[in-house]
Amino acid sequence: MSAGRGSGAPDTTAAPARPLADRVVAWQRRHGRHALPWQQTRDPYRVWLSEIMLQQTQVSTVLGYYQRFLERFPDVAALAAAPADDVLALWAGLGYYSRARNLHRCAQAVVAEHGGEFPRSAQLLATLPGIGRSTAAAIAAFCFDERVAILDGNVKRVLTRTLGFGDDLAQARHEKVLWARAEALLPEPASMVAYTQGLMDLGATLCSQRAPRCNACPLTDDCVARREGRPEDYPVKTRKLKRSQRAITLLWLTQGEQVWLVRRPATGIWAGLWSLPEFGSTDELQQASSDWPGGSEVLPGFTHVLTHLDLRLQPVQHRLPADARADAMLQQRWPEGRWVERRELPAFGLPAPVTKLLGRSDQLFAAQELVDQAESL
Ligand code: ADE
Repeated sequence: MSAGRGSGAPDTTAAPARPLADRVVAWQRRHGRHALPWQQTRDPYRVWLSEIMLQQTQVSTVLGYYQRFLERFPDVAALAAAPADDVLALWAGLGYYSRARNLHRCAQAVVAEHGGEFPRSAQLLATLPGIGRSTAAAIAAFCFDERVAILDGNVKRVLTRTLGFGDDLAQARHEKVLWARAEALLPEPASMVAYTQGLMDLGATLCSQRAPRCNACPLTDDCVARREGRPEDYPVKTRKLKRSQRAITLLWLTQGEQVWLVRRPATGIWAGLWSLPEFGSTDELQQASSDWPGGSEVLPGFTHVLTHLDLRLQPVQHRLPADARADAMLQQRWPEGRWVERRELPAFGLPAPVTKLLGRSDQLFAAQELVDQAESL
């Protein structure tokens, strides 16, 4: 194991004519991030796991998930051998559950097809489930010093601004050109770790989408977008995300310390996760439960924001009395349903807003330690 990623003596030979990569490397060594847990290793399993998690959400959220994942699955063989439900349960709250399924499949492919060792080139890494070109390049650069370009969303912003690359990235041919330009900027292998991390760090800190801090940026003298006075206009991408709205009524059905959960279908949002039964409206729910014993209460609704979709969630709590004999009726209505003890809930993969909803009324979810503040109710 080598020393921490991107560490080293600060470069004191500042000279405007140095190649761009040198400036990124010098800046990363002085000002970039060095203490993140996945920077203390060159183990491709750990680096891969961090990169997949970081595709989803910010570093502060990933930290807790990363640690819990490694405690439960310390190596690729442990992850490959785990039941899919355990992987989903630990992923719950990070969103994009197809990534958790791909993570599991990828671990299984590494074990079955590569003897339990991640391949050592970006080209081969990119053949594995869930590993795209940029992620493959990040793993290969961080673990094996490979001279290969990354181009995630943050890095696209840094490079299109610096290069004044104004072609529309919605078109594949333009994106291809940007990849080639990114490759032409690469430093020698010994600097690949600091360079790759430096581009990521610049994109995540100074070169933000709005209000970039150009005065502190090591590329400020090269940056075409800054010279033009319009960094916010890059990157150019015409295809806009089309957002939609959906309203769902959730049945929070309890009997004593048990909650009724149903397995969600294998496709669509929260595919394969356990969740609360859904209805099209409060009226529909109340009609369906009108002859059930016990009482119900319409709780305050809330919006859960997904990438393409605003989900308006309306929970209705129904408490069955302890002596109610509703199991046969419930099982008939939801063959994929079951009672779950509250204390068992952290072991289930529940969508983040459902975990938060159920956790609101008591602290039984403390074990799950939800850190995903970004997804506020
Ligand atoms: N985002 C994607 N990869 C990252 C990394 N290695 N460190 C910090 N942020 C990242």
